[in-house]
Amino acid sequence: MQTILIQGGRPLSGTLAIHGSKNAALPVLTAAAAVPGLHRIENCPDIRDVHTTLEILTHLGASAALKDGTAYLDTRALVSAPVPRALACRMRSSVLFLGALLARFGRAEVPSPGGCVLGLRPLDQHLSGLARLGVDCQDREGRMCAEGKPTGGTVILRCPSVGATENLLLCALGASGPVQILGAAKEPEIVCLAAYLRACGAKIRGDGTSVLTIEPAELHSGEGRICPDRMEAATYLCAAAACGGSVTLTDLCPQDLEQVTGTLSKAGCAITPTETSLTIRAGALQSPGMVVTGPHPAFPTDAQAPVMAALLRAEGTTLFHETVFENRFRHVKALKDLGGEIRVQGQLASVRGVQALSGARMEGTDLRGAAAMVVGALGAEGTSVLTQAQHLERGYADLVPGLRALGAQIEALD
Ligand code: EPZ
Repeated sequence: MQTILIQGGRPLSGTLAIHGSKNAALPVLTAAAAVPGLHRIENCPDIRDVHTTLEILTHLGASAALKDGTAYLDTRALVSAPVPRALACRMRSSVLFLGALLARFGRAEVPSPGGCVLGLRPLDQHLSGLARLGVDCQDREGRMCAEGKPTGGTVILRCPSVGATENLLLCALGASGPVQILGAAKEPEIVCLAAYLRACGAKIRGDGTSVLTIEPAELHSGEGRICPDRMEAATYLCAAAACGGSVTLTDLCPQDLEQVTGTLSKAGCAITPTETSLTIRAGALQSPGMVVTGPHPAFPTDAQAPVMAALLRAEGTTLFHETVFENRFRHVKALKDLGGEIRVQGQLASVRGVQALSGARMEGTDLRGAAAMVVGALGAEGTSVLTQAQHLERGYADLVPGLRALGAQIEALD
């Protein structure tokens, strides 16, 4: 899917089920490398990053298959071989193989990971944390080479990095003594990873808080389920807000979306939750004021671009303050091409609501940026063309068919 054609300006309606979370599935699948045994993981989204993770596991000697949303893995014969650069460079989460392989084998070699270009994305918290756990980690010409059976200890994270928390949690599974991670990230995807590891016998406490404790334990085969994708849900909510209409999303966790639903409610959308669904009714929009991104439970940086796209026509001025990544306004140019009035100054973007948007030709920049372009185009009159749309395949299962099911005129051209 390189190019998408969108005919905007039609309200959405209908009901759609949300898939499992990309950012939970990737660490959970990677965790299977740390735990020799059979793994059955339900609700895995059929997306490119999941397939890349399965390819890495297969390369390392596991058997891995995804059937009807369930991943079946046998990691008993897996070995600690270098992760191929061609696979690692496709996604950020390949760096988690460091922690997983260290836990099981006491050595790992992983090339610098790829992923969305959002400015500097250092790995210092991963590497200094692993060093605190007694592992020697060196960068040899763009390959991170780590050696040493992890000991116990306390790691303090300077910032609540999701990836560093996951890497250290995985590495801690093989530690000879208790491990504490202070300043840990609290995202729902970390809670999902910890739940899966507990199903494999791990002794983990404190997930969802900033203090994580891992004690040595015997690990075994496991079964579990990936939590709902809050960013997929946020994207559909934004599409409905941009287009108007009434959409119900099922199979999700409304609490994990409170910042996004709170913002869209302030913008004038009526949002009704049940325990596992959300219904959005959207009409005329007004500015919700200021949106400040931050680590969970603050407003998620991944939703900043789609929410900005949804509010291009909201009356008044909406300010976006991006505090997590230094370069996460790459979608702004395309949204301006649709007619959005946006000014960027450093980490601040101000969006002055316009009366109408019109279709444009846009180029996808990154996963959520491309999603924002789809949302913007759906709210614009006329035809838009999104090229470089393959970014979407990394993280959205069936985005085009999903939007079509809600009545959008959208088509993947190739
Ligand atoms: C995860 O990336 C997600 N990716 C990202 O989702 C998400 O945007 C991000 O968390 C924040 O929520 C996956 O889960 C695969 P971080 P990650 O480490 O782990 C700084 C999407 O669109 N930092 O929490 O890479 C870093 O520069 C993607 O689905 C350090 O300084 O994010 C950033 O400013 C994109 N040193 C902040 O922490 C480190 O060693 C948060 O990054 C690590 C991070």
